[in-house]
Amino acid sequence: MIKAITGTKDILPSEISKWYLLENTVKNIFSNYNYKEIRTPVFEETLLFSRSIGEGTDIVGKEMYTFSDRSETSITLKPEMTAGVVRAFIEHSLGKQQPLNKLFYISPMFRQERPQAGRLRQFHQFGGEALGSSSMLLDAELIHIAYEILRNLGLKDVRVKINSLGVPSSRENYKNILRKYLADKKNKLSEESRKRLDSNILRLFDSKIESDQEILRNAPLLIDYIDDESKKDFEQVKEFLGKLNVPFETDPALVRGLDYYTKTTFEIVSGKVGSQSALVGGGRYDLLAEQLGGDPTPGVGFAAGIERILLACENEGTLNQHDEKIDLYIVKLDKDLTSELLDLALNFRRKNISVDFDYLNRSVKAQMREANKLNARYVLFLGGEEYKSGSVNLKNMKTGDQKLFALKDFSEMVKIISQ
Ligand code: HAM
Repeated sequence: MIKAITGTKDILPSEISKWYLLENTVKNIFSNYNYKEIRTPVFEETLLFSRSIGEGTDIVGKEMYTFSDRSETSITLKPEMTAGVVRAFIEHSLGKQQPLNKLFYISPMFRQERPQAGRLRQFHQFGGEALGSSSMLLDAELIHIAYEILRNLGLKDVRVKINSLGVPSSRENYKNILRKYLADKKNKLSEESRKRLDSNILRLFDSKIESDQEILRNAPLLIDYIDDESKKDFEQVKEFLGKLNVPFETDPALVRGLDYYTKTTFEIVSGKVGSQSALVGGGRYDLLAEQLGGDPTPGVGFAAGIERILLACENEGTLNQHDEKIDLYIVKLDKDLTSELLDLALNFRRKNISVDFDYLNRSVKAQMREANKLNARYVLFLGGEEYKSGSVNLKNMKTGDQKLFALKDFSEMVKIISQ
C-alpha cells in the first residue's frame, strides 16, 4: 500500500472545521489591522533561501527540499515565507506603490526535519510581514497580533519572549567576545555545539544539553553589547507592548535560527505542547531587502505553526468542534421522483440552504438514519399521497414537529429553514 510520506499529514474532513476556525480568526484579525493577504509560489530558486536565511543555518544546511528541475535550475520548496514575500515585494515594486506594506499569509512550508509531535516535514504557517517602516510600533503590533490570535483561539498557557540582536556590527563584536569566553571551554562543549562555534556561534544558546547550558550560564550576553540605537529601540518595543497590555518576558538567549534578523526578535511559547514549544517566531530584518537586491527597506514579521497551535488547542481543551450540521435532508418516498428531487435540492441550495439526499437507493428507514447521522436540522419527505396533491411534509428534527407545505409555498419553507 502506498502511504503518505513520513512527516506529512492528511487533514481529514473530521478535522477541517478547526482549520476553518483558525484560518477565519487569522484573516479577521489581520484585516482588522489592515494587513492584506499575499500568496507566493510553493517553490522558488534555491539561491533566494540560501541568501536570506543564511548558509550556516540548520534550515539551509540540512533541511531544505532542494532538487534540479528539467532545465537544471536548482529549486527549493519554501521552508518559510519571509524570503518569498520580500522577493515578491522587490519584484513588483510594492514599495513604490505605497510607503508601508502590511502583508499576511497562510501557506504550507517544507523542511526535512526529524518528525515528532509538533514537528512535520510539510507543515503550515500563518504570518505577517510589515515592510517599509523602522517604527517599533510595528514590532509591537505584530507581537500583539500573534498574541491576539492565540488568545482568540482560547489559548491561555502562552508566554511571549522578546530579545534584541542589535545590528550586524555590534553582533560581530559580541561574537568575538563570546568566542574568547569559550576558548578554554571548547572541549567541554557537546559535538553539535563545537560544530556551531564556527558556523553559527549564537545558536549555541539553543542547545538543550545540560553541560552546554552550564557553560553558557555565565557567558557574556549579546543584549549587553548591542549598539545604543538598538537598545533604545528595544526599550520602545517594551513600552509599546506594555501599552497594548501584552505580558512579555525578556530572554537574552533568544537568538532565533535564521540569519536575517536585526534588532527585535520574539517567540511565543506554549507550556502545553512538549519540546516543540515555539508556536510563533519572528523579528525585524532591516537589511534583508537590500541583501536580496532591492532598495533598502526595513521590515518586521512573524510566522506561526498551525499544527503546533492546533495541538496546543487540543491539549488546552479549546476550539472544541461544534457538531457538524446540514440544513435539510430530503427523504425520497418514491423511487421515480429523481428529477423532482434534483429540482427541489437545487432550488434550496440556490437559497443558501445546505441539502443532501440518498444516492444509494436506500429504504426510507435507512434514509432517516442517514439524516440523523448528518445532524440534519430539517427533513423533507418527497412522495406519497401528499406529493400527489402538490404538498410535502417538512419535519423539524429538533422539536419533532411536522408541517405540510404546498410546493408552491416554497419560499415559506425557505424562510423557516433559514431561521
Ligand atoms: P521559524 O521560527 O523558523 O520562523 O518558524 C515559525 C514557526 O513555524 C515556529 O515557531 C513553529 O511554530 C513553526 N514550525 C517551524 N518548523 C516547523 C516544523 N518542522 N513543523 C511544524 N511547525 C514548524 C520563520 O519561519 C520565520 N520566517 C518567521 C518570521 C517571519 N520572521 C520574520 N518574519
